[in-house]
Amino acid sequence: MKIINLKEVDSTMNVVKNYDFNTLVVAEKQTLGRGKDERVWVSEKSNNIYMSILINANNEKINYFNYSFLSAISILKTIEVLTNGNINLKVKWPNDVLINNKKFCGILLEKDGNKLIIGIGINVDYYPENVLFNASSLKKERINLEKSEIINKFVEIFEKFSNKLQNTNNFEEIRQIWLNYAYNLGKKIKISGKNEIEGIFKDLDNEGSLIVEDENGKIHKIFSGDIF
Ligand code: BTN
Repeated sequence: MKIINLKEVDSTMNVVKNYDFNTLVVAEKQTLGRGKDERVWVSEKSNNIYMSILINANNEKINYFNYSFLSAISILKTIEVLTNGNINLKVKWPNDVLINNKKFCGILLEKDGNKLIIGIGINVDYYPENVLFNASSLKKERINLEKSEIINKFVEIFEKFSNKLQNTNNFEEIRQIWLNYAYNLGKKIKISGKNEIEGIFKDLDNEGSLIVEDENGKIHKIFSGDIF
C-alpha cells in the first residue's frame, strides 16, 4: 500500500479518491472531518490520526461491508501488538474500537461506484467530551505510541486480512476474531435508530448483521443503528 502524508485537507475521504487504488492518505488536520450519520469528526487541533484507504470494489462476489469489521480488528490488533497485549480492547458493532470500554477509534465506510473508501480516525491524544458514547484517547489511557508506528503496523495487518478476503472471499476468520473481542456479547443491549430494540446481543451473522434476541425470544437481525 502506498502511504501519502498531507498537512491539511477538507476530509481524507474526499482526497484519497484522487489517488490510485490501495493508497492510504493520512492528514495532520481536516477542516471538514466527517463521522457516521453526518456527524462532525473534530479534526483540527490535535495529534490524532485521520486517514482513508481507497479500495477497488469491482468484485461483485465480495461483500465490501466486511471491510468495516476487517478494519476494526486490524486497528485492535495493531494496538494489541504494539502494547504487548496488556490492555482491554474491544470492538463495538458495527465498527468502533474501544479501549477500557471507551471509544478511541471510529471507522467510516463510503462507496462511490467501484471505489470503496475506508476512513479511520484514531484518538491519539484528543478526545471529545459530551458525546453519545464515552470517548477516550490512547494517551488518556496511558498508551504512548508514535503515529507513524501505529500507521505502519496497521498497514501491515490490514493488508494481510484484505489480501485474504480478496483471495478467498471468506469472512469467517474476521468474524471469529471480531466476536472474540465484541463489546457486550451475550449481554443486554439497546439499539437506537429507526426502530429501537432491546435484547441480548447473541451473534454477528455471516453478512455482518447483529443478531439480537428480545425478551419474548424473538430474534432480530439488525443492519444499522447505534448500540448502547
Ligand atoms: C465515526 O463516526 O465513528 C466514524 C469516524 C470516521 C472519522 C475518519 S477521520 C479520517 C476520515 N476522514 C473523515 O472525514 N472521516 C474519517
